[in-house]
Amino acid sequence: MSKILRSLLFVPADSEKKLAKAGERGADALLLDLEDSVVPSRKSIGRAHCVKFLKQVQTKSEIWVRVNPLGSTYIEDDLAAIIPLSPAGIMLPKPDGPVDIETLGIRIERLEREHGLEIGKIKVLPVATETARAVLSLSLYPRTYLPRLLGLTWGAEDLATDLGALTNKDANGDFAFPYLMVRAQTLLAAKAAGVQAIDTLYDNFRDNDGLRMRATSAFAQGFTGMLAIHPAQVEIINTCFTPTEDQIRSAQAVIKAFDNQPGAGVVSVDGQMKDMPHLKQAQNILALYESTKP
Ligand code: COA
Ligand code: MG
Repeated sequence: MSKILRSLLFVPADSEKKLAKAGERGADALLLDLEDSVVPSRKSIGRAHCVKFLKQVQTKSEIWVRVNPLGSTYIEDDLAAIIPLSPAGIMLPKPDGPVDIETLGIRIERLEREHGLEIGKIKVLPVATETARAVLSLSLYPRTYLPRLLGLTWGAEDLATDLGALTNKDANGDFAFPYLMVRAQTLLAAKAAGVQAIDTLYDNFRDNDGLRMRATSAFAQGFTGMLAIHPAQVEIINTCFTPTEDQIRSAQAVIKAFDNQPGAGVVSVDGQMKDMPHLKQAQNILALYESTKP
C-alpha cells in the first residue's frame, strides 16, 4: 500500500521564493503546480523550476507535480519534462472521469519505457470533481482498473465555474449543499475504490481555528489527508490527520477486550457495546497511526 499522505502542499512552480524552502515545510507531499497558479506566459519557467527541483532538492516530502489538463496545449511538454525525473506522482486537474486517468497512465508508461524507468511507479491523483461531468463519473472509479491511482481529491472552485454558480459558499461561509454532496461522493468513491480520500483545501489560510475544525471533522468522517495552500497549514493538517492519544488508547482497549475473550462477537468496554465494526475501526486507527509515524 502507498504511504498515507496527510498534507499535500501546493507550491506555484514559477515562484523561486516559494520553492526555496518548500522541502522543509514538513508536508507529506509537495504539489509543484504548473496549472492554475502559473499564467500561460510563465508555463515554461515553471516547468524549468520543476525540473531543477526534482534534480536537486533533497527532502523528506514526496515530490508531486500538478500538470495542466489533458486537453490543454501544455500537457505534452509538462509530461515530457517531468516524467523522466521520476516524480512520486502526477496530480491531474479537470479529468472528465477515470477514462482520463487511463489515458494519462498510457502516456506516462510510454515515457517510462523511453527513459528506462520502472513501469508503474509514478502514481496519479486526480482532482476528480472539477466539472459536472466529472462528478457524475465518480461512481466509475471503483469499477475501473487504475493501478496508479493513489487517491481521489476534489475541488470546489472550478466546479462552481462549470455550474455557472455565483459562489460555492452559503451565507455562513460554509460550502453550499451541492459542494457538500460532491465532497461526500468523493469520500465514498475513494473508499469504494480502495484508495486515499483527500479533502480539498481550506482557502482562508490565515484562519487556523477554522482549518483545525474542518480537518478534524474530515478525519473523523474518513478522509485521510487534505490539500494545503500555505506552509502554516501543514502542521495543523498533519496533526489533525494523525490519530490522537485518546483515539489510540480507546482503539487499544477495544482490541484488548476482544483478545481477552476469544470467540466473543461482542464485548463491553467502559460500559459500551463493541462488536465487529468497532473492532475493525480500532484496527484501522492503529494501522493509520503506524503508517503516519515519522
Ligand atoms: N509554498 C511554499 N512557500 C509558501 C507558500 C506555498 N504555497 N505560500 C507562502 N509561502 C512562503 C512565502 O514565500 C513566505 O516565505 P518566507 O518566509 O521565506 O518569506 C512565507 O511562506 C509566508 O508567506 P505569506 O506572506 O504568509 O503568504 P503570501 O502572501 O506570500 O502568499 C498565497 C499567499 C496564497 C499567494 C500563497 O500562499 C500561495 O501561493 N499559495 C499557493 C497557491 C496555489 O498553489 N494555488 C493553486 C492550487 S489552488
Ligand atoms: Mg483549479
